[in-house]
Amino acid sequence: MLRTLGPLKRFRDEIDLGLLAPEVRRAWKQARASNHWSSLRNLLQEPNFKKLRADSIQLNNDAITLAFPSSADTTHLRSICKALIPWRIGPYQLGGVAIDAEWRSHIKWERIAPILGPVENQRVGDIGASNGYFLFKLSQNNPEVALGFDPIDRCWLQFSVLQHLIRDPRVGFVPTGIMTLEAFPEFFDLLLCMGVIYHQRDPFLACKRLFHSIRRGGRVVLESLTIPESGSKLLILKERYAKMRNAWAIPTAEALESLLLRAGFVATEIHRFGPITTTEQRRTEWAPYESLADFLDPLDPSRTIEGYPAPHSAAVVAHKPM
Ligand SMILES: C[S@@+](CC[C@H](N)C(=O)[O-])C[C@H]1O[C@@H](n2cnc3c(N)ncnc32)[C@H](O)[C@@H]1O
Repeated sequence: MLRTLGPLKRFRDEIDLGLLAPEVRRAWKQARASNHWSSLRNLLQEPNFKKLRADSIQLNNDAITLAFPSSADTTHLRSICKALIPWRIGPYQLGGVAIDAEWRSHIKWERIAPILGPVENQRVGDIGASNGYFLFKLSQNNPEVALGFDPIDRCWLQFSVLQHLIRDPRVGFVPTGIMTLEAFPEFFDLLLCMGVIYHQRDPFLACKRLFHSIRRGGRVVLESLTIPESGSKLLILKERYAKMRNAWAIPTAEALESLLLRAGFVATEIHRFGPITTTEQRRTEWAPYESLADFLDPLDPSRTIEGYPAPHSAAVVAHKPM
């Protein structure tokens, strides 16, 4: 798994390793103590998985699609992917293994790709990368490097399995959260931060971290669940939102912009994408738990089960001054 940090090696002089290394060591220790790791360790050592490599990769389909040589045995790959349920973002077609994730992330990609701007030869980060679906999508635009950050060990393991099959040396994974951007001063040309800000206890500080790690003239795409109201408002949650225990405050689209302006960004553009639907987020065989349909009021889907406004999606693109 530590191999996923490989793309960082050539930038070691620009990264504060004194800050980052202890965080990565802690994440590694935690991952090795996890249930996922103990059920996977032996499977990952299976020779027919170890030698499995994609011989073609299609990144412009809805599903990231890998093909293997006809002689390849993908039996262990299926068991490994099953052991890593739930798959939150996707879809993936890994030879004959079709992973229908909870989120049909190609729908988000179609909304976000047109507002990203140029990616070629840029240093791109995806904060809250989950298993790396958007990193691989970004890789088709030839970034200098595309680095995902996510503190959940299952996400790191899912990414590691995909990267083992794909082997793109420009794509890497840092198994830590948004606060460790402190170790990447003025490093990125473009940061994506999608579906993360409402999980932050201090969204102002989180946006400061984004600002700190973007180069002058660089940009951020901050996407979030939002409440569909006008004005710059932050709904501070008394309790769960859409059954999520780890959501703290849901912004309006304008409040997303305000968070970025307060962090120092300028030249903002707001994009409102409308309500999240059960076409985009739903229970599947690969994410067999409650999903959006269970989080909305069955009698009034414009409300969450707790009575809050149901989630919309919006993104703000903002620039760091030169
Ligand atoms: C709702 S999912 C969004 C996934 C993906 N970015 C998307 O937009 O579809 C939130 C992701 O953020 C990750 N996450 C949670 N806390 C985080 C933190 N402090 N820093 C970075 N990522 C975090 C979660 O593990 C999860 O993968």
